Amino acid sequence: MRLSPTDSPIPNTRSTTRSATPIRPYLSIALFALVLAASTGFLLRFGLGWGMPAWAANYTAIRHAHSHLMYFGWATLALMALIWHFLSGYTGRGLPRGVHWQMGITAVLALLSFPAFWVNGYGLTQIGSASLPLGAMISTLNGLTWFHFAWLYRRVSRMLTHRSLPVQLWDWAILLLLLSSGGALGLVGMVVTGAQSPFLQQTFLHLFLDLFAVGWFTLALLGLLWAWLGQRVELPRRLPILPLALAMTPTFFLGMSPALVAPPLFWMVAAANGLASLLLFWHLAELLRRWDHLPWLARFGVGMLAVHGLMGLVVLWPGVWAWSGGTQLRVYFLHNLLLGWMSSLLLALILDQLRLGKIQWVRWLGWAWIVGVGFMLLTLLGLGLLQFVPISTLWLLRAAAWSSLVPVVVAAGVWLLSLRSDQAGSSTRLD
Ligand code: HEM
Repeated sequence: MRLSPTDSPIPNTRSTTRSATPIRPYLSIALFALVLAASTGFLLRFGLGWGMPAWAANYTAIRHAHSHLMYFGWATLALMALIWHFLSGYTGRGLPRGVHWQMGITAVLALLSFPAFWVNGYGLTQIGSASLPLGAMISTLNGLTWFHFAWLYRRVSRMLTHRSLPVQLWDWAILLLLLSSGGALGLVGMVVTGAQSPFLQQTFLHLFLDLFAVGWFTLALLGLLWAWLGQRVELPRRLPILPLALAMTPTFFLGMSPALVAPPLFWMVAAANGLASLLLFWHLAELLRRWDHLPWLARFGVGMLAVHGLMGLVVLWPGVWAWSGGTQLRVYFLHNLLLGWMSSLLLALILDQLRLGKIQWVRWLGWAWIVGVGFMLLTLLGLGLLQFVPISTLWLLRAAAWSSLVPVVVAAGVWLLSLRSDQAGSSTRLD
């Protein structure tokens, strides 16, 4: 097993460098995307509890608008902005002008995904005399911006004489991002060619949805967390990176319907998934040693990553995965990873980046997030385990709907604060 040595101590990007590319505007746009996508999530949850309003009748299309804006506009944009920020700390140089274009185009196309999916999802939309697959078109364009990002990242990071632990995590995160984009392209190809294979459709969908989340989001975020911690404490001498990336790669098959995955394939993938969980626990054990340096919001996110790792081990129990395919556990699983782990930690890093983390009432916003998201995840878990939980489905659906208002309000509060700090910092170069 190859393990990765790290540079230590990691340079402090706050004090040592000045990047020519301000990242705050992109963080503000990402936060705006979070507010809009979370409000749409609230609308969907409201629809599940009380029925969708007449002006938002196409539930599936709106679910696509929600998930794609979360993926492209919130998570991907914020991760890219923070990677650029920390990377310029490692190179000790400003970022090339091209980064500004790349981030601008990525932001615009990510925001456009929302209206493109809202009307018909991946279906065709009549515009004048043409029937256009707007969702598929905008996904393709978004995919091109990830290749642009990867190319620029390679150019900038090539000047590093040693690839430290966070940089190695980003290297693999970006490789998995490119691999998962093959799934998005495959889906587009199926729409364009009218291909009907359910196996291919599910393979492409989950290669994109799941590898994007498990591979790109998780590795990129771990890299950011270690880079952030590296400014405060010494980093571990060794951590598993390549084995973690390789073990994560095939796990997207577990997102598919059990009816489409043959038992030998399942066991291979479940073993890889179990290994990925153990390697994640290695990272978690090292994070535990540095627990005191993490703000509460980050601790909550790391806790949800531990729950994700535990689920990877539970799936190894014979029959559990096939049984879970007939439940709502997938929604819980996705949101534990995407909202509980990823969004909580991203928010904690952004608050720190915007210098908001020390304000008392912003801390209260953080606590509101922890309580609201924690409760929402519990209700989703309850909905997944309905057959064992003595609580009515309607009660759980409505409790999930009310609790989903909390992340909307917290995200709106942080977004408004980010605009204020944008104005305050607009005349200066940003670090
Ligand atoms: C802010 C709080 C959130 C709420 C209230 C929310 C709500 C929802 C709802 C109601 C669904 C549909 C579930 C169903 O049909 O049974 C859903 C699906 C989904 N959400 Fe969220 N969500 C939130 C956060 C997130 C985040 C942060 C992400 C990703 C970064 C995300 C990604 C997804 C994905 C990928 C799906 C599945 C889409 C599909 O299968 O087509 N959600 N969400």
